[in-house]
Amino acid sequence: MESPWVPNAVCLLLALSVTWDSAQEYRSGIYRVGGSVNLTCTNYTWNEMLFTAWEININGIKCIIADGIGKNTHDTCMDGKVLQNTTNGKSYLHIPHFKDTDGGMYTCETVYQGSNKKVHITVSAAVSPQISTRLDFRDGKREAVCSAAGGKPAASVSWRSTWNYNVTLSSTENSDGSFTVESKVILPETVSADNLICIVTQLSWRREHIMRVPPAPTSGTYQEAL
Ligand SMILES: *[C@@H]1O[C@H](CO)[C@@H](O)[C@H](O)[C@H]1NC(C)=O
Ligand SMILES: *[C@@H]1O[C@H](CO)[C@@H](O)[C@H](O)[C@H]1NC(C)=O
Ligand SMILES: *[C@@H]1O[C@H](CO)[C@@H](O)[C@H](O)[C@H]1NC(C)=O
Ligand SMILES: *[C@@H]1O[C@H](CO)[C@@H](O)[C@H](O)[C@H]1NC(C)=O
Repeated sequence: MESPWVPNAVCLLLALSVTWDSAQEYRSGIYRVGGSVNLTCTNYTWNEMLFTAWEININGIKCIIADGIGKNTHDTCMDGKVLQNTTNGKSYLHIPHFKDTDGGMYTCETVYQGSNKKVHITVSAAVSPQISTRLDFRDGKREAVCSAAGGKPAASVSWRSTWNYNVTLSSTENSDGSFTVESKVILPETVSADNLICIVTQLSWRREHIMRVPPAPTSGTYQEAL
């Protein structure tokens, strides 16, 4: 039986937005495609909560998943996203296999004893960077460059070698929100570029990517060392 104070999830959401001035919070998250994602609205547990609802807006198409004490889960998304409870009674939205097309605005509203809270989460998919290494000549010196272009979020670039080096790191944001990271190392005259390895890690990948630097100046070639 429906309780009189809440005919359904949609009506409750509408009612809340006009009657209460809810506390608002803004967050964002970038997630790996193929992995699972758990989104937490608040830290309230079902001891304190009456109701929690997620409105998911993907390119203007909206659906709702909601759960409340004594009510069946309301789900108009029907695409595998589910509400789950932790053992200590917190609620979270579980996306079993995160896809590119799951990126969008996730707005959750939690009603708890006496008040409510609204959280807006901008969810986007990680984008793997294009990686390359090259050897440049600059001011008569050899400079090894390791580049990770167009990654979202920014990749981490580091080096491994048997000699000491100083790193010049630059990170620039592209117009699509991705980042291009370049790390540069000047090679001492006595060493071979073979002894230098660039290591790139990024959220899209399960493991680090390892590249050697070309022995002579070239344009970027990708060479997996392992
Ligand atoms: C999300 O929660 C599930 C349990 O529902 C857990 O198995 C999984 O590891 C969690 N995923 C992440 C990315 O934390
Ligand atoms: C929940 O509490 C933990 C620990 O206090 C905090 O780090 C986390 O940000 C909180 N999460 C939310 C959704 O408020
Ligand atoms: C989570 O716990 C609440 C309170 O016990 C319950 O009403 C709800 O159905 C549970 N949801 C799931 C998905 O287990
Ligand atoms: C790195 O930079 C520091 C400070 O500029 C300098 O003292 C040091 O010699 C440099 N090391 C190498 C290997 O170039």
